[in-house]
Amino acid sequence: MKRHFYLDGKWKEASKYMPLYSPYSGELLAEVAEAGEAETEEAIRSAQKAAVVMANMPAHERAAILDRLIAIMERRQDELVRILALEAAKPIKTARGEIARTIQTYKFAAMEARRIHGETVPLDAAPGGEGRIAFTMRRPLGVIGAITPFNFPFNLVAHKVGPAIAAGNTVVLKPAGQTPLSALALGELFAEAGLPDGALNIIPGPGNVVGERLVRDERVKAITFTGSPAVGIAMKNKAGLKRVTLELGSNSALVIDRTCELTLELIQRCVTGAFAFSGQVCISIQRILVHNDLFAEFVEKFKAQTEKLVIGDPLDEATDVSALISEKEVRRMEDWVASACAKGAEIVTGGEAISSRLYPPTILTGVPTDEPVSCQEVFGPIVTVSSFATLDEAIREVNSSRYGLQAGIYTNDIHAAMQAAMEMDVGGVMINDFPTFRVDNMPYGGVKESGFGREGIKYAVEEMTELKLIVIKLKS
Ligand code: SIN
Repeated sequence: MKRHFYLDGKWKEASKYMPLYSPYSGELLAEVAEAGEAETEEAIRSAQKAAVVMANMPAHERAAILDRLIAIMERRQDELVRILALEAAKPIKTARGEIARTIQTYKFAAMEARRIHGETVPLDAAPGGEGRIAFTMRRPLGVIGAITPFNFPFNLVAHKVGPAIAAGNTVVLKPAGQTPLSALALGELFAEAGLPDGALNIIPGPGNVVGERLVRDERVKAITFTGSPAVGIAMKNKAGLKRVTLELGSNSALVIDRTCELTLELIQRCVTGAFAFSGQVCISIQRILVHNDLFAEFVEKFKAQTEKLVIGDPLDEATDVSALISEKEVRRMEDWVASACAKGAEIVTGGEAISSRLYPPTILTGVPTDEPVSCQEVFGPIVTVSSFATLDEAIREVNSSRYGLQAGIYTNDIHAAMQAAMEMDVGGVMINDFPTFRVDNMPYGGVKESGFGREGIKYAVEEMTELKLIVIKLKS
């Protein structure tokens, strides 16, 4: 099956197509159009032309397009789940959860479209400001460049396209090379929902051509990117005066305080947080810090629940964990575990590739903090467990990271909870839950090398609009 570009509201043939293979079975899924300079130029031009149409479209019409999109997604849910499971090797029950979340994200976008507003400004609070009425409006920026990752090919696209359309912008979307089919399916859905031609252009292609051009082109007014810190930081350095929202990686930590009871619910939450979608989630639990008094009990219970996970075909209803996105990632897991073991780490469970595509859920203890599995982003099914004596020590360890997306703490002590809330240097602190918690209207983003700006529709709309001030001088 050949998948063309979605450009200016039409399906356009490419001069070059790339084969796309299933990460689980290796079978050919599709031949996907690959954009170069010419198609990127065409996409930017078509988005720029449509920017006038979208900026003049009333809020209720933008909201109605999003409402129709939601209805179409609800009707075609099973088909979308299958695309996602096949191209990302996302276990089907996890894929179902992502499509449900995506629908929810577009629902928030439709709601937000209806309530974007400014405020009145009391200019007479300043001497010289009297005799005036002032108010602000939020105006769309114009063309938004959206560059999205493979791990949530529907929902992280929704977090960029949803607020952009809600606010009256247009989009050039460059989806991840590993998961273009989900993004291209969105083109079909938006076309059916009645989005004007050119308001969404979808051009899979290499980052160093399409991404580079979107970042450097002055007609693109903002870049919203989810991906690796190295790429994100390079983008920010090249973007000049363009707005940039960066949602980058993390090695998220969870602290389990002495006051906790290690209930089955807590342990299962740790298993889900560490191993859902094989840990290929920016807020996956990578480091678990357990109080000395609970360490042995925690490791034993965590191991037992982890070993119940079913590994296999993403299309199988029983599967919890499937293939990593590429064989290269499996080799990286092997290298990083070998490196940690050479420095004294112990494997509690897992630790050896099952095949060239499958790596099992792996728990390590005794990992030196300067090992890649601890201090870099694993983005795979490996978690480290270490112990601590005092909360100060645990928080210091959480903060020793170059990243700061989300962190979690389980505690029954309000003072410990508040200390974590105040002192953990991250974008979001989850108290009595895992750092992997996200619902789609909350502000989401990080500090340090985890990024810049916030997602969560209302917050993304702020990033994707310009605040404009109107001052009316009254007749004296
Ligand atoms: C991410 O990996 O950044 C997104 C996590 C989520 O939306 O749950």
